[in-house]
Amino acid sequence: MDVYKFRLDQIKDKMQEKDLDAVMLFPSANLYYMTGFETSASERLLLAVIPMDGEPFFIAPKLFEGQIRKEASIKEIIVWNDEENPYHILRSVLEEKNLTDSRVAVDDTMWAEQLLHISQTITKLSFTQLGQLINSIREIKSQVEIDLIKKSSSIVDDVIEEMKKIIKPGMTEIEVAALMEYEMRKRGSEGPAFETIVGSGFNGALPHYNAGERVIKSGEFVVLDFGATYKGYCSDTTRTLCVGEPTDKMEEVYNIVKKAQEIGIKTAKPGIKAKEIDKAVRSYIEQKGYGEYFTHRTGHGLGLQVHEEPYISGISETVLQPGMVFSIEPGIYLEGEFGVRIEDIVVVTEEGCERMNKTSKDLTVIGI
Ligand code: CO
Repeated sequence: MDVYKFRLDQIKDKMQEKDLDAVMLFPSANLYYMTGFETSASERLLLAVIPMDGEPFFIAPKLFEGQIRKEASIKEIIVWNDEENPYHILRSVLEEKNLTDSRVAVDDTMWAEQLLHISQTITKLSFTQLGQLINSIREIKSQVEIDLIKKSSSIVDDVIEEMKKIIKPGMTEIEVAALMEYEMRKRGSEGPAFETIVGSGFNGALPHYNAGERVIKSGEFVVLDFGATYKGYCSDTTRTLCVGEPTDKMEEVYNIVKKAQEIGIKTAKPGIKAKEIDKAVRSYIEQKGYGEYFTHRTGHGLGLQVHEEPYISGISETVLQPGMVFSIEPGIYLEGEFGVRIEDIVVVTEEGCERMNKTSKDLTVIGI
């Protein structure tokens, strides 16, 4: 069956459960997932509306008409031009379709400005968040989606191998980030999945640091955390490479993180709760005396977005099922000294889980 027809049936089942009359999608991963049309959000109103009864339709600026016709699974497009008021047009369309007095689930990332405009123009609509309803569909990946994430992951794996040869003391973090992004695009990626992290020395102890003008020195760790997008699907991996020889302490911390990450991978299997992975990983790090330096959850789901369901945290009751894709990425951060994080993406299988990243996790000395 056509993938978009299948997804439409899935979402309609959920809408029925929640007693919804329509779903309104804004330019987002959800819009792409449901229709095959991808664009970024802008001030011009662009929506896909999925009514419980009747056919879905777009309301879109004239300049997008051709692209939507080419890419989207939805055939009805109501266009507006820059001289018209799109909210008035939306109102008359909803009147025509008997939808002005209805319960609508809206995309979580819809801009407040546009949602407020809609609610002021069509006053009888009542709104709820689409969130969990669509996330519960998206968190189970099809084989086609798994293959795309694998391809995206193989791009970042290759880039790590490349960077092992390229990174040398004296380069800045930004230079390294630029080369990583170039190497990703060279291998077919549309662009980075998120801002590339190159954290050298003490910057590696800041988990969400990006990349700056700091010069990489010998005897330091450099944390590379980055992802590609491939046909919309993200990858995300972290390797901590050692530029020059590590100290004993660096080696000790590195091996604790590596072991913890491997424990996470061994724990992941269908039927367990996501929080059990977090617990297994965290207790090992605690037992080694570094518990207070592991300051974030163990992982996050990934697909069209780099952070999505299921989240692998100490409070996540999500029961793992085959087809779920997420990261396992413990870290130890010693402020003012250095940080270590190791991250792989895994997919839950019938028996356990499969790693999508294949690059070595052994402590690797580079740049000499
Ligand atoms: Co990640």
